[in-house]
Amino acid sequence: MPVTVVVGAQWGDEGKAKVIDLLAADHAYVVRYQGGHNAGHTVVVDDQRYALQLVPSGVLYPHVVPVIGNGVVVDLPTLFQEIDTLQSRGIDCSRLRVSDRAHLIFPWHQALDALHEASRGDERIGTTLKGIGPAYADKARRDGIRAGEVRSGSGDAEHGSGGMESFAAEVRRQGEIHNREITALGGTALDVDEIVERFTALGWRVAPMVVDTVELLHDALDRGESILLEGAQATFLDLDHGTYPYVTSSNPTAGGACVGSGIGPRHLDRIVGITKAYCTRVGGGPFPTEALDEWGDKLVEIGHEYGTVTGRRRRTGWLDLVMLRKAVRLNSLTELALTKLDVLDTFPEILVCTEYDAEGRPVYERLPGWQTDISAARTVDDLPANARALVTLVAAEVRVPVTIVGTGPARDAVVAWT
Ligand code: GDP
Ligand code: IMO
Ligand code: MG
Repeated sequence: MPVTVVVGAQWGDEGKAKVIDLLAADHAYVVRYQGGHNAGHTVVVDDQRYALQLVPSGVLYPHVVPVIGNGVVVDLPTLFQEIDTLQSRGIDCSRLRVSDRAHLIFPWHQALDALHEASRGDERIGTTLKGIGPAYADKARRDGIRAGEVRSGSGDAEHGSGGMESFAAEVRRQGEIHNREITALGGTALDVDEIVERFTALGWRVAPMVVDTVELLHDALDRGESILLEGAQATFLDLDHGTYPYVTSSNPTAGGACVGSGIGPRHLDRIVGITKAYCTRVGGGPFPTEALDEWGDKLVEIGHEYGTVTGRRRRTGWLDLVMLRKAVRLNSLTELALTKLDVLDTFPEILVCTEYDAEGRPVYERLPGWQTDISAARTVDDLPANARALVTLVAAEVRVPVTIVGTGPARDAVVAWT
């Protein structure tokens, strides 16, 4: 099992981190391949809750090498805040490696994210305001600054002249260019001197972690080691395949895992899609099965559906199997993990959308609830028949096996479906 991909099958926050943490027990490397600190990945182990934004979710295991891949956009202040918090809680982050090709986020990206959102008025995307879109836009227009540029020394053909001096000069140049863009949009110019000073210090700190992660990962594959590719965001937030323009600016789908890690598709042999037993979305955009009634409120309340990054209330609704079938195709999913089944414990009836009608409205199958606490269930036999029926329906409709069922936030709160 050399390479496993974990990808969100809905609109994010499906419980990817919990499943990644679980699977990381059997992997040597855990690699983030896209997105940035717009992600909020929660892992719960022994009553300890870890909220990760940039550090890969495998970091809690001493045997795992966590890697920030080339497809990620890295906010250095957040990265070090996260590392410091983890270290203060006894988690060793010294193994963390950052790709020399990963692009850096700067304060002007955040300023532009806010200005672009403000200019959209009612058509706001509802971004996390972390500067993700503007950072990827700079990457695409070949104006980005990559992590490799902090490496000191005389440099080489691939990395230009290299060294902290040229990094600082490039930060200054880009800061001045972006200040012109910010003021043209009605914003306040940023203090470029302060940014150059602060990011040079951060540059020195990140430099020892920056490596050619593509080489690192391929050498690991050559040694027969296994790699877990950690998706952030999700299939329907994908820049190409999501509900554009209400999407993020990267490719969370499994193809993006190859691009964002430098591992070719031939190596991928297990592609795990993560879906909640219901559906949530944070930010604007279409949501066919949204429940704007008391059941939607109940999902928010019982499922604690508030964003880890922005604290925003998530929109909630019923499981949409039309979307899931599409997610299977878009990602070549080999299996599904169905999380947060326990959130439905008190529901007398559970709706599942199996198709859309001619007008595109969801058509629901209504399943009787189980009205039993399943949080202690660890085997299929521990689950009530009505809960098993929901899992069986999902697998049959989507035509890939459900292999993991989540029954609570903790690492061990799972049923391995056989
Ligand atoms: P991610 O972005 O996909 O990694 O998901 P988040 O961490 O943003 O949100 C998922 C939330 O659900 C977190 O608070 C998890 O601790 C929690 N969670 C994950 N799996 C389960 C589950 O099976 N049951 C319950 N009740 N909570 C879960
Ligand atoms: P994880 O990895 C849920 C959403 C934002 C917004 C849109 C674009 O925790 O599942 P961006 O800041 O990326 O430009 O915002 O994408 N979004 C997420 N929603 N989970 C996430 O990450 C998200 N990351 C971005 O709310 O609608
Ligand atoms: Mg999340």
